[in-house]
Amino acid sequence: MYSKQELQEGLSVSLIGKKIFAFETIDSTNSCAKTLAEAGMEEGSVVLADFQSAGKGRLGRTWFSEPGKNLLFSFILRPDMDSRSVGTLSLFAAAGVARGIESFTGRCIECKWPNDLLLRGNKFCGILLESSFSADKLDYAVIGVGINVNQTEFDSGLLHRSTSLSIETGAPLDQKALFQSILHSLDSLYAQMQNRNNSGVMKEWLSRNSMIGKQTTVFQDGQKFSGIVQAFNEDGSMVLSVSGGLQSFYSGDVTLDAGEKE
Ligand code: BTN
Repeated sequence: MYSKQELQEGLSVSLIGKKIFAFETIDSTNSCAKTLAEAGMEEGSVVLADFQSAGKGRLGRTWFSEPGKNLLFSFILRPDMDSRSVGTLSLFAAAGVARGIESFTGRCIECKWPNDLLLRGNKFCGILLESSFSADKLDYAVIGVGINVNQTEFDSGLLHRSTSLSIETGAPLDQKALFQSILHSLDSLYAQMQNRNNSGVMKEWLSRNSMIGKQTTVFQDGQKFSGIVQAFNEDGSMVLSVSGGLQSFYSGDVTLDAGEKE
């Protein structure tokens, strides 16, 4: 386990990662970050753990990760935003994490809507966004990031075909240096977003996405929708052409129909 001093050594950020809380074991870094956010903790604060006893995935799933092998962290943001735009934060986080991993590993990362990162079509990173509003204004968002870094064995019964960075690159990775590279990218991309440059963030995410024009199925609230991906909006939604016309989706479980491995 790294101490917070070690994690901050040589890290040059202006906001995300200025304050780091590091745990050996915790229930969930998202739950901890939410508790801190509720208590008024400043934006940019990061909670990192070696192991989560109750790691949370999207859509009520559990996120499993072997102790000490992967990156599990959450950070608090408080941008001036209303509920319609909060999906932008998912794309921002995916693009920022992807950029940080790319600059560290030299590998091209694929962003799959809404917020998975893939290598050769296999998922190695998931992002969980949890937000709290006062009236329609965002009070805080907690963005949780789980990255399979040095884990090499995965449960074959998992819903998603999983991989890790070390499986894909063929060598173990320095987790601290990777973490710092990701914080650095998130920090600079967030500064760009705060300067009202959402289209830059969108461009960065789109450059790593190849879903437009593909036949896709979205499972949402027990319903199944199939269609061709037409576009992604700056509010983070995905536009599908379904039988009745164009429909925007803000969340859901997505599979690409041409035999894609999720
Ligand atoms: C997904 O379902 O793909 C999202 C997974 C998000 C997992 C991360 S691990 C760190 C943070 N803490 C949690 O409890 N979940 C997120």
